[in-house]
Amino acid sequence: MAKVNLNEVILQNILHYTDIGIHVINKDKKTIVYNEAMARLEGLDIEHVLNRDLLEVFPSLNEDTSTLIKVLMTKQQIIDETQSYINSKGKKIISINSTIPLFLNGEVVGALEIAKDITNLKNLSDKLVDLQKNIKILNNNDKISNNRINKYTFKDIIGKDEKIINAIQIARRAANSPSSVLIYGETGTGKELFAQSIHYSGKRSNKHFIAQNCASIPESLLEGILFGTEKGGFTGAIAREGIFEQANGGTLLLDEINSMSYGLQAKLLRVLQEGYIRRIGGIKDIPIDVKIIATTNEEPTKSIENGTLRKDLFFRLNVIYIKIPPLRERKKDILVLSKYLINKYNRILGRDIAGIDDDVLEAFYNYSWYGNVRELENCIEAAMNYAPGNRRFLQKEDFISSSNIFTNSNIFENPIIQDNEGDLDFKSRNKSLPLYLQNIEKKIIMRSLEENKFNITKAAKKLGIKRQTLQHKVKKYSLTAK
Ligand SMILES: Nc1ncnc2c1ncn2[C@@H]1O[C@H](COP(=O)(O)OP(=O)(O)OP(=O)(O)O)[C@@H](O)[C@H]1O
Ligand SMILES: [Mg+2]
Repeated sequence: MAKVNLNEVILQNILHYTDIGIHVINKDKKTIVYNEAMARLEGLDIEHVLNRDLLEVFPSLNEDTSTLIKVLMTKQQIIDETQSYINSKGKKIISINSTIPLFLNGEVVGALEIAKDITNLKNLSDKLVDLQKNIKILNNNDKISNNRINKYTFKDIIGKDEKIINAIQIARRAANSPSSVLIYGETGTGKELFAQSIHYSGKRSNKHFIAQNCASIPESLLEGILFGTEKGGFTGAIAREGIFEQANGGTLLLDEINSMSYGLQAKLLRVLQEGYIRRIGGIKDIPIDVKIIATTNEEPTKSIENGTLRKDLFFRLNVIYIKIPPLRERKKDILVLSKYLINKYNRILGRDIAGIDDDVLEAFYNYSWYGNVRELENCIEAAMNYAPGNRRFLQKEDFISSSNIFTNSNIFENPIIQDNEGDLDFKSRNKSLPLYLQNIEKKIIMRSLEENKFNITKAAKKLGIKRQTLQHKVKKYSLTAK
């Protein structure tokens, strides 16, 4: 029996279980690797392809049209090329392929093709463009379109901190200018809110606002979504307008611009400079007048430095730059936003909450809010769902019990852990975790008791636990006044 080594077993399993199609030919153009995923994609049986001459198996191909043979000849790799074909089972397939020459001791010994099936994704992206179009038609025909949900204006941006007021001022100027806008802010800081406010407060408000996220869509699809396709251009495509055409006269929000590939960023820049687009595979230049608002959740200079944002595109977009500060840098807004959100959810949930307890507010001030306003909103919504019916002021326990983020992210424990009291340094301890946690609990309770002059009822309230629970713990840890 032939001896099989570990690497071969690993390779065989990868080839078998991956959903990426893999096809390798040797220098005689004979297939030496052909996995299940590739067979599924091409609608063929492995046995039909393996160990056979490539052109014999695919008679419709020739030395010019087969990417594998082309790469074998030219020794040049082809990366991320979209291919479209009808497979042997009559199914239309769209895939993104990369074909790479295989070198051994400086000699080309074969070629490898890997194929990602994006047929479903492409269908979805086409549907997306059609849907945008339907919304557009609806907006044109329907008077109630003014009630479209999520249509924000500046009055919806809540904040008193100078930093946010300053950002709003710049945004208001942006609304009256045709120039491009670049908005930078962490996730949940309100970039979409700002972008919509700029559009709906400006001259273009009666034209379309279309938002497109640039992350998580393969470059070849995004290009089609943006610029449209002409029949047969984007392989196998039908004529379809892109969102640039759909947004004509209006505003296009390009979310997470730094996730767009470098190549596409160059194409976008050309469009912005020249003022017209050309559909993929088309020959006609179509003039467009679209205001671009781009957003990013990474400091633009950093994106340029790490090579995810083109400098030339940055200068083009950065005509008006709005930085939305994270919530933790505008503490004033925590209170204003909390009140606003409580009112909002009073209406939605039919509640009558008047505010939040001081200790909750203090924890809010000390918390980092990496999810920013969105996180605050989720948190308050959850607590308001959880709080008992007669609650007037939201308490710590409403938050602890109703929301994982509080218990997991230590919103209430953070400031105490940061105190570094006693042996809170987990690394240097040689106790078990339960003992370690008990030790922390003991310290927290002791401190609360001291702060409340050993009044059990008050301390229990501050700690957000029942009086009986605290009494039990005081006994357990033998806590007495020093
Ligand atoms: N200043 C604010 N006033 C009122 N609501 C706000 C404010 N900032 C954000 N929000 C609310 O927080 C939520 C998140 O805002 P938005 O979607 O605009 O954030 P984003 O910056 O686009 O986030 P992401 O980067 O994750 O896309 C929305 O529900 C929005 O209405
Ligand atoms: Mg957003």
